[in-house]
Amino acid sequence: MERITLTNDLSFSRIVHGAWRLNDWNYTTEQTTSLIEHCIEQGITTFDHADIYGGYTCEELFGRALQAKPGLRDKMELVTKCGIVLESPNRPEHKSHHYNTSKEHIIRSVENSLSSLKTDYIDTLLIHRPDPMMNPEEVAEAFSELKDSGKVRTFGVSNFKRHQLNMLQSYLDDKLITNQVEVSAYELENIHDGTLDLCMEHRMPVMAWSPLAGGAVFSGNGEKAVRLRDTLTKVGAELGTEDISEVLYAWILKHPATIMPIVGSGKTARIDSAVRALGHKLSLDQWFEILHASMGHDVP
Ligand SMILES: NC(=O)c1ccc[n+]([C@@H]2O[C@H](COP(=O)([O-])OP(=O)(O)OC[C@H]3O[C@@H](n4cnc5c(N)ncnc54)[C@H](OP(=O)(O)O)[C@@H]3O)[C@@H](O)[C@H]2O)c1
Repeated sequence: MERITLTNDLSFSRIVHGAWRLNDWNYTTEQTTSLIEHCIEQGITTFDHADIYGGYTCEELFGRALQAKPGLRDKMELVTKCGIVLESPNRPEHKSHHYNTSKEHIIRSVENSLSSLKTDYIDTLLIHRPDPMMNPEEVAEAFSELKDSGKVRTFGVSNFKRHQLNMLQSYLDDKLITNQVEVSAYELENIHDGTLDLCMEHRMPVMAWSPLAGGAVFSGNGEKAVRLRDTLTKVGAELGTEDISEVLYAWILKHPATIMPIVGSGKTARIDSAVRALGHKLSLDQWFEILHASMGHDVP
């Protein structure tokens, strides 16, 4: 599996696995351990989390699997996020849904993530969403304390647009190493609005969430989903596959922004589709044919 260099001593697997839906899968700890081991066998060593996933449960479920198999943690990179506050029975002290990127909240969130994931360090911590009340000096102080204590190795952001990323970066000593944003052939916003250009300008590899549009491409009955499915099926036939998810991943992988798709399925066959996509090389004709199908018209 190709590796993407983030810093001198940190690289991610080109395909990342995401734990957002882990609680929905109702896996036993043994099944979760097997899933993680399957990913690692395929070369997927980077796992994406957030404190809030599964109503603050997914990190804990993953952590139990790590605890059950000592040694597993050393074979992976753990990414997690903070900054969103959700009302939840697991956080009775939360009174409302809002954002909190204060120093105190960031540090407390990391302490919780470390305890849930049963690890003593996070490879990369992301600010989950841009916060209109973000005080960049506090974020910088939190990052610096977390780095000095060895609790977090590197930092990044998620869903940040140009002005938000540049503003935060200007307060930090270390370079933000990634921006995790939604990218798929179905959701083109970050391609069209310059967010991927921004990441390239910063030489910052991108993590792509919902690379299959959360499943909408497979199940949607709207004109766009149908049009896209038809084109993906046609291009898939040209590439020798009936699995349109391979084509969706290959479309992202061809983009020059060095995009790491995050696989959202807990099914091993679907994880393997993402890995197989690395073997497909779309032509420019095919790439634009898919873009046109998504937009519903040609490029100007
Ligand atoms: N930073 C952020 O704000 C943010 C936001 C959202 C997500 N994320 C991250 O990105 C990761 C991936 O997001 P995602 O889960 O939305 O990814 P996705 O891969 O776009 O969507 C996964 C969904 O698609 C379904 N699916 C996959 N292959 C399919 C197929 N061949 N036919 C029908 N359905 C299929 C899956 O169902 P099955 O489960 O049945 O396979 C699952 O429900 C998350 O786990 C999380 O780590 C980050």
